[in-house]
Amino acid sequence: MNELDQLPIPLLQWYHENARVLPWRSDPTPYHVWVSEIMLQQTRVAAVLGYYARFMEALPAVADLAAVEEDRLMKLWQGLGYYNRARNLQKAARQIVEEHGGVFPDTYEAIRALAGVGDYTAGAVASIAFGLPEPAVDGNVLRVVSRLTGDGGDITRPDVKKRMGAALREVIPLDSPGDFNQALMDLGAMVCLPNGEPLCPQCPARGFCSALREGRTAELPVKAAKKARRVEERTVFLIFYQKKVALRRRPAKGLLAGLWEYPNELSPAPCPVEAAGLADGPSGKHIFTHIEWRMASRMVEAASDRLPGGWVWADRDALEREYAVPNAFQAFQAAVEARLGPTETGG
Ligand code: ADE
Repeated sequence: MNELDQLPIPLLQWYHENARVLPWRSDPTPYHVWVSEIMLQQTRVAAVLGYYARFMEALPAVADLAAVEEDRLMKLWQGLGYYNRARNLQKAARQIVEEHGGVFPDTYEAIRALAGVGDYTAGAVASIAFGLPEPAVDGNVLRVVSRLTGDGGDITRPDVKKRMGAALREVIPLDSPGDFNQALMDLGAMVCLPNGEPLCPQCPARGFCSALREGRTAELPVKAAKKARRVEERTVFLIFYQKKVALRRRPAKGLLAGLWEYPNELSPAPCPVEAAGLADGPSGKHIFTHIEWRMASRMVEAASDRLPGGWVWADRDALEREYAVPNAFQAFQAAVEARLGPTETGG
């Protein structure tokens, strides 16, 4: 009997005692599960909770998501990052309306065919929302399986993920696939922790874990190092006129597509408007998947309200309510807000 065969019973027992209470778990409709799984990609549960609640309040059903205006969708997503996730959510919602009559598809293949849905998300929705015995293999699950089975394969490799998914598929309990998959995720998030710090004494699999038995928890999982990021030095212009700040829309394709930003350029860059006053502002840094921005800023008092084509002036209320400015510019938010003054509602 291998380690995975022994897992389901103690893991499910552990899950019934320790499952995290999460809003999408209490009412696991396909729409709830799908949206939460997309939000949870690259993002921690604690960061997702508030976004999830606001999203479901604004867009309670697939048809609402299919119909929502893009700027409103971006505003709902502002701060979560990886904005293509939101665009793909809307694409998929439109697929569901057009190809499935608005009813969420109920087979693994049809779910997997939705925009932005990969093997992991298809497995999570199929198992949690529809009770289908499909594995849902994310980074947490790969770590658990790698340690439990003592598998030293590089978990960034597709063939290794496939192998681990196939091994899991063999042991998924047919009466509770969703609980089993979520138990594995919770175990990875709460007990089988990364960076050589697993809490093995609390683990329901401690009696049959290969890595624990062989003293290899620190060396598993094996994970190839990521490529280094390209570093860009940028100058960000915080341009003010009366109680307004200048914003421009990013190009429709590429990094942070279609979102709003404070005008910025690779350093060194000349001030893009005629300035009546100029001072150094805060500096900031933001790490994207493949790029790192190191940003200096200039606080500019514009000599007039003339702006290059397509740029806009936003007052404090518009900045908060209308324009989705990504977290990459978080370092400047306090300085901008201090310069613009309070919102009309006093926030
Ligand atoms: N991470 C991503 N999806 C999850 C889920 N359904 N439960 C717990 N952690 C998760």
